[in-house]
Amino acid sequence: MAPPLPLIFLLMIYGVSSADWGLSYSHSHICALKDSSVIMSCTYTYPTGYQIMKAFWTKSPIKVGEEHPDLSEDPEYSQRLQYLGDKHQNCTIRLSHVTQKDAHQYYFRFTTDKPGGTWLGTPGVTLTVTDLQVESPERVTEGDSVRLTCKSSCTLTDRATFIWYRNSQPLTERRDTNNELLLQSVRREDAGRYSCALHGHTYISPAVHLNVMYPPRSISVSISPSGEIVEGDSVTLSCSSDSNPPAEISWFKGGTLVGSGRIYSISKISSNDSREYKCKSINEHGEKYSDAVTLNVMYSPRSVLLSINRSGEIVEGDSVTLNCSSDSNPPAEISWFKGGTFVGSGRIYSISNISSDHSAEYKCKSINEYGAKYSDVVSLNVMHPPRSTSVSISPSGEIVEGDSVTLNCSSDSNPPAEISWFKGGTFVGSGRIYSISKISSDHSGEYKCKSINKHGEEVSDVVTLNIMYPPRNVSVSINGSGEIVEGDSVTLICSSDSNPPALNFSWFKREKFVGSARIYSISKISSYDSGEYKCKSINKHGEKYSNAVTLCVMSVKWVLWFKAFGVGVAVGGGVVVGLGGASFLSKKNRRTAMKESAVR
Ligand SMILES: *[C@@H]1O[C@H](CO)[C@@H](O)[C@H](O)[C@H]1NC(C)=O
Ligand SMILES: *[C@@H]1O[C@H](CO)[C@@H](O)[C@H](O)[C@H]1NC(C)=O
Ligand SMILES: *[C@@H]1O[C@H](CO)[C@@H](O)[C@H](O)[C@H]1NC(C)=O
Ligand SMILES: *[C@@H]1O[C@H](CO)[C@@H](O)[C@H](O)[C@H]1NC(C)=O
Ligand SMILES: *[C@@H]1O[C@H](CO)[C@@H](O)[C@H](O)[C@H]1NC(C)=O
Ligand SMILES: *[C@@H]1O[C@H](CO)[C@@H](O)[C@H](O)[C@H]1NC(C)=O
Ligand SMILES: *[C@@H]1O[C@H](CO)[C@@H](O)[C@H](O)[C@H]1NC(C)=O
Ligand SMILES: *[C@@H]1O[C@H](CO)[C@@H](O)[C@H](O)[C@H]1NC(C)=O
Ligand SMILES: *[C@@H]1O[C@H](CO)[C@@H](O)[C@H](O)[C@H]1NC(C)=O
Repeated sequence: MAPPLPLIFLLMIYGVSSADWGLSYSHSHICALKDSSVIMSCTYTYPTGYQIMKAFWTKSPIKVGEEHPDLSEDPEYSQRLQYLGDKHQNCTIRLSHVTQKDAHQYYFRFTTDKPGGTWLGTPGVTLTVTDLQVESPERVTEGDSVRLTCKSSCTLTDRATFIWYRNSQPLTERRDTNNELLLQSVRREDAGRYSCALHGHTYISPAVHLNVMYPPRSISVSISPSGEIVEGDSVTLSCSSDSNPPAEISWFKGGTLVGSGRIYSISKISSNDSREYKCKSINEHGEKYSDAVTLNVMYSPRSVLLSINRSGEIVEGDSVTLNCSSDSNPPAEISWFKGGTFVGSGRIYSISNISSDHSAEYKCKSINEYGAKYSDVVSLNVMHPPRSTSVSISPSGEIVEGDSVTLNCSSDSNPPAEISWFKGGTFVGSGRIYSISKISSDHSGEYKCKSINKHGEEVSDVVTLNIMYPPRNVSVSINGSGEIVEGDSVTLICSSDSNPPALNFSWFKREKFVGSARIYSISKISSYDSGEYKCKSINKHGEKYSNAVTLCVMSVKWVLWFKAFGVGVAVGGGVVVGLGGASFLSKKNRRTAMKESAVR
């Protein structure tokens, strides 16, 4: 089946007519689409009696005097030319796959067996070959109304149906009958390579690019690396956007312009870079901002600060709050240390009813998964009044007259206390140490110290100083009064002052040891007992002799003599009769002896 020829426009019917000879072409001008098949229809007649020798088509230029070449023998045509008619009157041919080179005038010629019986069908059939060209504006803006035209150099028939292609895909929905493609309100999707063709023909026009301009759209920011961002990392923000022509990109951190270009790089990111970022895409058709993305930069604790919620002194019983603040991302865990020992966790460490046990160096530690940091050390110094006030004596054992003795008042207090000393109820000194050099028995007594600071005072228990000393004031007394007469019982008593009290005594008569108790008794005294007596008092710290006393025993006749002369006391030779150099135990001496025995 021969394809239809929609594009052939019939100009006129051109015919030649004579009595017997004749040749006519259906169309004298044929405009054919490149690559299509062309049918050149023709009929001819010749007088009867003639016999056709050759019948063929030839083409211009016609060279006079030369035999016309047969197209079917031309290698350019032989494959494409098909004789459709018969050999008598129908001289129709078909030329397929026409190209621009085929644009010529074509003639039918035949020869007969009779001389002069030849015919050339001039002026023949003029063949023009056309292609298709898409005409379109080069660049259009989205929303414009765009008209694409499929142009050919021939006027094509009204029946011609155009087919449009975009990017080699037929636009099935459009089958415009005229040669125009109207894109009302062009969209960016309409951009592409457009070509046109005619229905029923394989020829497709060269493609023409339709460039649709549009403002930025689909603008977005991506972050690399995509996971967690840690201080010091290098971070790259990329802005992608779709626009035509390509857009200029600018970057905003918070609201501030910080850079331009599709990539915004931050090397060594810091926490200061934890902000909202967005990019702006702009071309001559419009601008658009991306959504904001937030950079959340992680970092280890820093600025770890320990604060106490009170200023000034902390006194026992107070409530104190320690507050550990630090800067980190993510927020840190806080732990508390007293000295080096963990004591708690949480941002606040509270101590209610604080005591001196809480006096220590405190610090807190702030830790998150990126690191840890300690605060500076803060000392809690808890004030309290004196307590455990006590006196210690040095040396600790027996104190002997002449020793150096130190009383030490120790007291637990904060701040340190003022110490004062009392003997009995009397203030005797101040300072923590109360020293007595060369102590004497006068220092014996009850001592205590008083410790005082601004928060209170305390008095120690009483300590007693008991000063030891060797015997002194050793004396001999005789119980009884008046003269000692032969036959009397006489008691000599050795008295002494000592600490501890002397228990060991010795009696001597004229340097001769005669006894060893405090009391030396002589019953039935005789004149032989007359003489000098003395005693010795001993304790562990020493011994001492009394002065010598002289016992003068009178014989009975002497007593009678005295009585006769009425003389009570005679003085002669330095000897006191009855009690020489000593005395009777007077009332006073008795008291002394009692005192001695009271002193341990
Ligand atoms: C000539 O032959 C062709 C092909 O066979 C045919 O289509 C055409 O109608 C014929 N022309 C005439 C006038 O008979
Ligand atoms: C963060 O910003 C502050 C104030 O702009 C600046 O003083 C500081 O040095 C910055 N820190 C870093 C780690 O860049
Ligand atoms: C400190 O905090 C404790 C507990 O919160 C509170 O009882 C005390 O009054 C506070 N002291 C000061 C000086 O704010
Ligand atoms: C702890 O200290 C921080 C920083 O100084 C302060 O903002 C916060 O209020 C304090 N917290 C308490 C409970 O005092
Ligand atoms: C405070 O502590 C002291 C000593 O631990 C205790 O005697 C006192 O009862 C406590 N006071 C309160 C109110 O808990
Ligand atoms: C006083 O006593 C305290 C506590 O017992 C002691 O530390 C200190 O050394 C003593 N001072 C003297 C001078 O003995
Ligand atoms: C002996 O005792 C008396 C009376 O108590 C006293 O006055 C005197 O000083 C003492 N003598 C000595 C040496 O201690
Ligand atoms: C003296 O001592 C003796 C013996 O203890 C006693 O018998 C006597 O009565 C005493 N004499 C006087 C005067 O106290
Ligand atoms: C008493 O003292 C003397 C001399 O120092 C001593 O020999 C004697 O043992 C002492 N007696 C007693 C009971 O202590």
